[in-house]
Amino acid sequence: MKGLFITFEGGECSGKTTIIKTLCKVLEEKGISYISTREPGGIDIAEQIRSIILDVKNTAMTEETEALLYAASRMQHLKERVIPAIERGDIVICDRFLDSSLAYQGYARKLGMDAILKINHFALDHLPDLTLFIDVKPEVALKRLGNRNKSDRLDLEELEFHQNVYDGYHQVCQMYPDRIRRIDGNRELEVIVEECVSIILEFIGR
Ligand code: TMP
Repeated sequence: MKGLFITFEGGECSGKTTIIKTLCKVLEEKGISYISTREPGGIDIAEQIRSIILDVKNTAMTEETEALLYAASRMQHLKERVIPAIERGDIVICDRFLDSSLAYQGYARKLGMDAILKINHFALDHLPDLTLFIDVKPEVALKRLGNRNKSDRLDLEELEFHQNVYDGYHQVCQMYPDRIRRIDGNRELEVIVEECVSIILEFIGR
């Protein structure tokens, strides 16, 4: 039996990482076979591409190059890690996927959704079965960033960019209403985690 591909999406500091950690503990307790991974990254080649994209020194990187590097990292990760896991029957939990490129590069960097879909052509055959979008207003989320190091090129963007990413995500939700579930991320983290876990357990039939 084939596994399932489940992705998490959201702006900076939306709480995805904490949600995924808790979810993985629950899957483990229930003896459900899964892998947890992330984009850009998750395997050696894609992690190397991630370092290039996020390096604060790379201020000269064009929007187009950025979008192509995300797409390249995505394909390597899909083929090397995600598809084999799904074929084995695992649940794949992935922090970010194509929807991030649509919201960040397509909408916020203004390359357009069509251009992003075109350069991610190979990934379109492997869209997630379910996506949870953690919906937190950037001004709320970025207050959390205040307590954390601004460590990469995208963390250094201004509020306006993150507002555009947020609007971009809402557009992506409209493009894929059957696949993407919107989760109100402005609540206590515990409540959000509980809702995400219960949606996923229901989706995988547990
Ligand atoms: P992370 O902080 O969630 O690990 O993601 C790294 C950064 O990369 C984050 O600012 C979002 C950004 N990103 C894109 O702009 N496009 C993409 O396709 C992906 C996967 C991430």
